[in-house]
Amino acid sequence: MSDRIPLPYSPKVLELFRNPKNMGRLKDANTQAMAGSLACGDMISIYLKIDDANHLIEDASFESYGCAANIAASSIMTEMIKGKSLEYTWNISWKQISNELGGLPVVKYHCGVLAVGALRRAIRTYFKEKKLPNWLPKELTPDEKHALEEEKLIEVLSKKMEKTKKPKIDLSYRSK
Ligand code: FES
Repeated sequence: MSDRIPLPYSPKVLELFRNPKNMGRLKDANTQAMAGSLACGDMISIYLKIDDANHLIEDASFESYGCAANIAASSIMTEMIKGKSLEYTWNISWKQISNELGGLPVVKYHCGVLAVGALRRAIRTYFKEKKLPNWLPKELTPDEKHALEEEKLIEVLSKKMEKTKKPKIDLSYRSK
């Protein structure tokens, strides 16, 4: 018998882990980003389809190579942002996501932070060739930095994924 103590996941986390929504690559996305966590070595990819005329999120999806908390956080986050403005979406915090999930165990807070970091990176990537709106900070926010604490990690993960034929990590943000 295993002596591991199960993490106190909420029913919502368990439900979305078993039946995640919006999982998979969004074929007609017009921005995407990946982010990794040094805390656990996991990673996530976010895809957004944004209406260029009014900056509303028409569709969103994710791929997660993380834990149950990260899958549930990414799933609920993509539901929360569909139909919303980019400014609203930019300001979503991992705590809001955690609340929507009925709470995350303390040791899993970073899984929600990772999801938000990837989302913010996707939004920043969208504006790469465009004029930055007033609400978008010029400097990377702590959430964004946290999502990629060390670019080296991403390079290592990218090489690993190439070997396993998983999607390549987009490092284009580094030119910003
Ligand atoms: Fe790595 Fe949750 S433990 S994303």
